[in-house]
Amino acid sequence: MAWNPLLKKSFYVVAAGAWTWALFLVLLLNPWFQRHALYAHTIHSGFWHNVSNPEEFGFAKGQVQPFTLKTADGESLFCWHVLPLDVYLEHENEIVQKTTGLVEDLKETVGYRILKKDEGSKVVINFHGNAGHVAQGHRPSTYRSISSIPHTHLLTCDYRGFGKSTLLKAPNIPTESGLITDGISLINYILADLGHPSSRTVLLGQSLGTAVTTASALYFTDPESTLLPTDITPPQDAVQSKGGFAGIVLVSPFPSLPVLLETYRIFGILPILSPLRGYPKIAKFVNARIVDRWPTLERLTALLAPSGKGDSRGGSGCDGVRLTLLHARNDQDIDFRLSEDIYATLESQILSSSSSSESHSHSSVLEERRSIHGGERVKRGAFAYRRVEDAESTKNDGGGKSVELEIVRYGGHNEVVGFAQVSLAVRRAFREAEAEAEEGKARFRVGLDVE
Ligand SMILES: *[C@@H]1O[C@H](CO)[C@@H](O)[C@H](O)[C@H]1NC(C)=O
Repeated sequence: MAWNPLLKKSFYVVAAGAWTWALFLVLLLNPWFQRHALYAHTIHSGFWHNVSNPEEFGFAKGQVQPFTLKTADGESLFCWHVLPLDVYLEHENEIVQKTTGLVEDLKETVGYRILKKDEGSKVVINFHGNAGHVAQGHRPSTYRSISSIPHTHLLTCDYRGFGKSTLLKAPNIPTESGLITDGISLINYILADLGHPSSRTVLLGQSLGTAVTTASALYFTDPESTLLPTDITPPQDAVQSKGGFAGIVLVSPFPSLPVLLETYRIFGILPILSPLRGYPKIAKFVNARIVDRWPTLERLTALLAPSGKGDSRGGSGCDGVRLTLLHARNDQDIDFRLSEDIYATLESQILSSSSSSESHSHSSVLEERRSIHGGERVKRGAFAYRRVEDAESTKNDGGGKSVELEIVRYGGHNEVVGFAQVSLAVRRAFREAEAEAEEGKARFRVGLDVE
């Protein structure tokens, strides 16, 4: 039988594609290759861009102070301290005159002095996604949008092996425990070394950064948690923050890496494990060989568990958690339904834990949703918006737990980080935390901060 040449050609193209995918899958079974594919830390634009010169990325002279942060296991992370514009304007002359390049110690800088002196200063700690450096792609747009929030400083680092950060420790490749060590080191640096209170700190993560954020937040609530890798290296002076942070904002999160890989598409096109859906045995075999599993949903569940306040044994959970999940409906890399799955689990956890206490009538759920074609039920202009809060949270006296889910219409996987919705989520967290602090002062409550 003679084949139509076009048909023959397309057959070869499809066959070649299938073989390439199969080869990629076999390579993925190797932990070294798997981690390279997951973290993609070697892919960045450091050859064209100079992250030590933040003006290249649209910041005012001296607005961003690059500095290095040492981890307890001997890595040097390359970090940025971004000043808010209102504070910058107020101290412009001094900042411009004293601006330097990369410094070894942030405490010697003008920016640190301003942060410290200002009693109303707030900090956003940012954790970026995989691949690239601190200023890759849309990342600077996040920092610029946060820097327009009054008195709000942003600190962010490249994880080990990313950008200009070192990777001296064996196996010389980013790992789950390595990245969590970096996350804990940065948070602890701000809380313990810089002495900034956790109640005026928001943790913000995107994509892979949501997994780092969650694991790090769990460490500060329950350092002994069995959900954390055993080989993380926390700083010697690590503090605890049972009272929790002003807020945790997760943009494009996923429940765990194995769950993500079931639907993930590279660049929104190339599937990884989804073609295996018809072959559960092979899928299970591959799944069992994923080395860094990033169980974010389990860690969030632990974070939202009862805190054991007033109980001498103490529960594993945090006293107060204000969690926002944000996801774009047109995210091609990570499906927004994964955020809905996370939310659904956390909502039923909060509802069941408050229904077992006597105050369940105070816990509340709000759900707003509209169809793709319209409908005006959703006040925030989102595609879907849901919120659950427990009884403690509605008392508004510091403590209590709330989880919000906002599915926004636009922004995709990466661009959304600079969108207004992210900045608004951060502002809401600070506003609610401030209201609680006021209320707390009135009642002489203590123990909100680490200090
Ligand atoms: C990068 O920028 C810094 C600060 O402006 C400068 O000192 C350094 O020489 C630059 N590096 C390169 C390779 O241009």
